[in-house]
Amino acid sequence: MLDSFEVMTSERRYPIVLGNGIIREVADKYPYAIYLVDRNLLTHIMLPGGRCIEVDATEENKSLERMTDVVIQLRKLGANRDSHLVAVGGGIIQDIATFCASIYMRGVAWTYVPSTMLSMADSCVGGKSSINIASYKNLVGNIYPPSAVYVDVALVATLPTEHVIGGLFEAVKICYAHSITAMQVYSKYDASPSMDLTGFQKVIYHALICKKWFIEIDEFDQKERLLLNFGHTFGHALEAGTNYKIPHGVAIGIGMLVAVFFSRQRKDFTDLGVARVNELSGYVKLTIQNSRQHIPCLSDSVDLLLVMEKFENDKKHSSSHYRMVVPNIEGNLELVSFEKNEENRVAILGAFRAALIDLSCFSFN
Ligand SMILES: NC(=O)c1ccc[n+]([C@@H]2O[C@H](COP(=O)([O-])OP(=O)(O)OC[C@H]3O[C@@H](n4cnc5c(N)ncnc54)[C@H](O)[C@@H]3O)[C@@H](O)[C@H]2O)c1
Ligand SMILES: [Zn+2]
Repeated sequence: MLDSFEVMTSERRYPIVLGNGIIREVADKYPYAIYLVDRNLLTHIMLPGGRCIEVDATEENKSLERMTDVVIQLRKLGANRDSHLVAVGGGIIQDIATFCASIYMRGVAWTYVPSTMLSMADSCVGGKSSINIASYKNLVGNIYPPSAVYVDVALVATLPTEHVIGGLFEAVKICYAHSITAMQVYSKYDASPSMDLTGFQKVIYHALICKKWFIEIDEFDQKERLLLNFGHTFGHALEAGTNYKIPHGVAIGIGMLVAVFFSRQRKDFTDLGVARVNELSGYVKLTIQNSRQHIPCLSDSVDLLLVMEKFENDKKHSSSHYRMVVPNIEGNLELVSFEKNEENRVAILGAFRAALIDLSCFSFN
């Protein structure tokens, strides 16, 4: 069964269609398109022969320098203003496609088929690109939404479990940030990496409908959409402090636990606030603990002082204040600033430690 809805942006209105095996429809609809594909996927999917740009989904390949290679390939394949680009892959392919489609001859139309859980349940709605420059990750980018997004849930089947878990954590983050009701619906689905494809389709649909709300109310990241950074300031520090051994989505899950500990050690939550954050933390904990054999990094040791150093270096902080999204006493998310002083540093380090102890998976020093 297909699900669909539309997203409205200042640039255009575009449909999101979800179904099992719908990549075949895309191939039938766009036989003459130029395909930009994650090379790893070519063993799993059938695309119309002919014009295809294969890219290895690596961070190096989404650097500004490499964008010229893609543009040159588009030119060599005869792309013009009327050409249609179809991108198939995860967030890396999405970033490359968004950026290159926006600049090629000042913009060509493109369609996106996300292939990772993160891109299906989160990034495919939003229209952003984030491109690396030298060692600076996601330093530049723009907003250039596709003409349509086709989410083929069959592509979940070949993903490693830790990627699926990471995508589920981004999905639960969106639902939690959206509302109490959205979180209740998410919990009702019992989302786990072992769901069947119908279950994945329901969860992804729900997360994307919630994401649509954020995009339509705050397309350019001025207010509400910033709440979707929940878990990310702490999570990025965990990723960078472990040399990216903790996958992004898993780090975001743990980052949300840290945010909850940080907030609760500062203030007394209301009963409702406690119930809400416990529902979220309980889900993240249980999901990680039930799949610990599929998350290899859990056997590694975490250097908390290095994690703290990476936290301090986050580009979202100002020179005098830490900036992060945390739950308030009622469990609602807020973007807050805390002065950079010893008391807050100790509290942040304590929250990282408390979350890792609570998970009882990692060793750390
Ligand atoms: N533009 C945005 O809005 C946005 C949002 C979040 C993240 N990102 C970016 O996305 C990137 C991460 O993307 P990601 O986590 O979706 O994955 P990815 O594109 O980095 O791919 C991760 C790995 O999974 C493989 N893969 C992809 N689909 C597969 C499938 N169906 N089966 C088996 N293997 C598959 C890829 O070949 C690759 O090896 C980061 O660079 C991040 O900065 C962008
Ligand atoms: Zn993320």
